[in-house]
Amino acid sequence: MKKIAILVGSLRKQSYSLMTANALKAMAPSSIALDIVDIGHLPLYNQDFDAASPDSYDAFRKQIASYDGYIFVTPEHNRSFPAALKNALDVGSRPWGQNIWSGKPGGVVSTSIGGLGGFGANHHLRQVLAFLNVQVLQQPEAYIGNTMAVFDSDGNVVDEGAKGSLSRFIEAYAAWVDKLS
Ligand SMILES: Cc1cc2nc3c(=O)[nH]c(=O)nc-3n(C[C@H](O)[C@H](O)[C@H](O)COP(=O)(O)O)c2cc1C
Repeated sequence: MKKIAILVGSLRKQSYSLMTANALKAMAPSSIALDIVDIGHLPLYNQDFDAASPDSYDAFRKQIASYDGYIFVTPEHNRSFPAALKNALDVGSRPWGQNIWSGKPGGVVSTSIGGLGGFGANHHLRQVLAFLNVQVLQQPEAYIGNTMAVFDSDGNVVDEGAKGSLSRFIEAYAAWVDKLS
């Protein structure tokens, strides 16, 4: 079984992105085990930290390096993905030459309360992941729109269309992990 980290771009407790991550965890096939990894405690990246890194950076880098792949579940902030997620990606990419993200299978799921499903966030994130050499699953794409109608108050997916998208995504991602291993 492969260990996969899920990084969630929203830090709020009632986040639809977090609900989406939990739904993916619940529907993942048995070949992959998904853990949600915290990113909200990481100080803003500062290149001075390359010489003397905070303990939280060391622990995060070690934790991330122990996974076989990464799924990013992100909302859209001003047509891009949120700063917290960019910060985590930056922390893992440095010091220069020690990019921990490189070479592993990645997946991107975007969410939005609007109808576009976080398209801008999804594709800005893909641009960054290309540079970090994450091997991103291209298809199926997963844009989860209108999230206020996708979940019930307990965080269960009640929208059949979204459930189908998430299920197709996680099955394809698990096959992608198999293929790259
Ligand atoms: C600072 C900010 C910027 C936002 N910009 C966008 C946007 O560009 N596109 C969009 O679809 N939703 C945007 N939203 C609304 C988010 O889709 C909505 O707040 C969503 O619930 C956030 O995801 P979460 O539930 O995982 O926290 C924005 C929200 C915030 C707080």
